[in-house]
Amino acid sequence: MKSLAIVGLQFGDEGKGKLTDTFAANYDLVIRYQGGNNAGHTVYAHGQKYVLHLLPSGIIHAHTINVMGNGMVIDLDALEKELEPFHIHQLRISDRAHIITPLHRYLDAQAEGNTSRKIGTTLKGIGPAYQLKAGRIGLRMSSLFNLERFKLELKQLYDFYGFNEDVEAYVQRLTPFIQRLRPAIVDVGSLLEAAKEKGQSMLFEGAQGMMLDLDHGTYPFVTSSHPSPTSAAIDVGIPQGWISRTLGVVKAYTTRVGEGPFPTEYDNGVSQSIRERAHEYGATTGRPRRIGHLDLVMLKHAVRVAGVSELAVTLFDILSGVEPLKICTHYRFQDNEITTVPAHADDLKQVTPVYQTFSSWHEDLSTIRTYDALPEAAKTYLRFIEMTLKRPIRFISVGPQREQLIEVKHD
Ligand code: GDP
Ligand code: IMO
Ligand code: MG
Repeated sequence: MKSLAIVGLQFGDEGKGKLTDTFAANYDLVIRYQGGNNAGHTVYAHGQKYVLHLLPSGIIHAHTINVMGNGMVIDLDALEKELEPFHIHQLRISDRAHIITPLHRYLDAQAEGNTSRKIGTTLKGIGPAYQLKAGRIGLRMSSLFNLERFKLELKQLYDFYGFNEDVEAYVQRLTPFIQRLRPAIVDVGSLLEAAKEKGQSMLFEGAQGMMLDLDHGTYPFVTSSHPSPTSAAIDVGIPQGWISRTLGVVKAYTTRVGEGPFPTEYDNGVSQSIRERAHEYGATTGRPRRIGHLDLVMLKHAVRVAGVSELAVTLFDILSGVEPLKICTHYRFQDNEITTVPAHADDLKQVTPVYQTFSSWHEDLSTIRTYDALPEAAKTYLRFIEMTLKRPIRFISVGPQREQLIEVKHD
């Protein structure tokens, strides 16, 4: 079976949406396996800009079936709004995916109000949704088949937290949408098994990025799910081994939204110039993204954990004219050189990055479509990434549009 997983290797916003949309032209199913509307995946197609939060980034192609796995957490209000320009018949949602309610958003805001443990979340209720899931008191999409039961479950949950919102009004408001949605709510594992038997191809789309992974990211400054495609089997209900290739998406520099350690963060005006050129503002919250140099220590960690087989380097056009151009190769920590990511956020805050400096280039890369046409200095930058991460760079993205992509031939 033809299958590919796309995963961000940094702190999210690597350009996964653009790549998923572009590759979706050649796949039958596009499957999001985790996260919720904390994600913001930007796609340009047919002269229009789409920012997808919950829907898999294959939805713009009319031939695709877009699947939301049980590992996702779904805010029904947000889904209703996002679905407006699309066809519901292209969508399948796991009956085991968890539902985000106004209570979840309230709990997120409450936790974030406590400044001593602020994460800088998107305030979409993501953390509480996974907390309640693990605590075995969450609500799942399967509840939507019986609205009286759904109301009862919701009321019990609200009572447990002393949350006084009107359950009746919430369910009544959503009832027409829920009725429309019901045919799309299915056992996703069985659906994918049937698709595999028919020989259909599958594109798995990760949200967030490996350094935001609950276990392998910069805990506690992480999201509450596993962006790693190695968890996709559990998150959609399929056996291990169905994903034959994993494309790790590397932004040509690093960005981060929210709190948390960021060793290679710029402390000068370069970040503002990159921010304006690449429009580095959160696609979900509009917050300015923090910006820094490429960090190969984190990338090596991410490549291993995610089981990456090949790489795509994105936003490569943005590096033209950036000076000095540096890549972090290791950290200094307590008088030692280290090449692994310290587990404790306080320790990671204290590392000093050690850099290798590269020659800059000034050419506009946005119209280049072949590897050979890239400036020599740009090739050197790419070769260094490839050599250090020991994975081939198969794609180089040089702009937000579908066609702004270089496929690198490795023979
Ligand atoms: P995602 O969350 O990984 O899908 O990424 P986002 O959509 O949050 O952020 C990536 C941003 O970069 C979006 O505004 C994209 O339109 C844009 N983008 C993607 N690839 C490229 C690229 O190669 N060059 C430029 N200049 N912009 C890109
Ligand atoms: P995409 O899929 C960038 C960040 C938040 C915060 C932390 C926890 O577009 O790459 P959460 O609301 O998930 O509890 O917030 O994770 N975060 C993202 N940052 N891109 C994302 O998604 C993100 N999703 C969550 O900013 O620091
Ligand atoms: Mg994003």
